Amino acid sequence: MATIRLGDIAPDFTAETTQGTVHFHEWLGDSWGLLFSHPADFTPVCTTELGRTAALKSEFDKRGVKAIALSVDPLDSHMSWLKDIEETQNVTMNFPVIADADRKVAELYDMIHPNASEKTTVRTVFVIGPDKKVKMTLTYPASTGRNFLEILRVIDSLQLTSNYSVATPVDWKQGEDVVIAPAIKDEEIPARFPKGHKRIKPYLRMTPQPNI
Ligand code: BEZ
Repeated sequence: MATIRLGDIAPDFTAETTQGTVHFHEWLGDSWGLLFSHPADFTPVCTTELGRTAALKSEFDKRGVKAIALSVDPLDSHMSWLKDIEETQNVTMNFPVIADADRKVAELYDMIHPNASEKTTVRTVFVIGPDKKVKMTLTYPASTGRNFLEILRVIDSLQLTSNYSVATPVDWKQGEDVVIAPAIKDEEIPARFPKGHKRIKPYLRMTPQPNI
């Protein structure tokens, strides 16, 4: 499988999960999607990551995002491990985990990087828009747990910038000023951004976040 790039249609698949069979595109419906791989069941970092995702469900729901995880272990292993996650992370597992023992989905999404590990997936994240296109990809090594608040931050940026002609600057967080897109002419700004703006340079024009 070729590398999946931003703007590509997220490959569709059917897979067994801890919440039954999932036909991916149909399961996504009109929602945003968060598909992420983790190296293996019964491993410590993955246990904390899946617990964190479950704990953040209300944040994903607020943004219309459905989360689904994957590892190349079979369903009975997942089901047994999920009990440990619930016990140790103090959560109810409220999203599906794909059982990908035949590596079908892992290979479709290029989640196995053989020079890192022949046997397990690296930590990938795909954020998928309601149009089924890939909006963000991220790849971490097995030894580094991801920051799920950063993933929420990127989703906030994606959802904002898909509706307004703005971009989000370095370290931006919900509620902070944003950058007006270069394609917007100075004379268009007052009508399009009635909350005001600062023209720091001709190419650097800031405005309050328009959707709050
Ligand atoms: C973990 O999830 O804890 C882990 C998995 C593979 C290598 C190192 C850590």
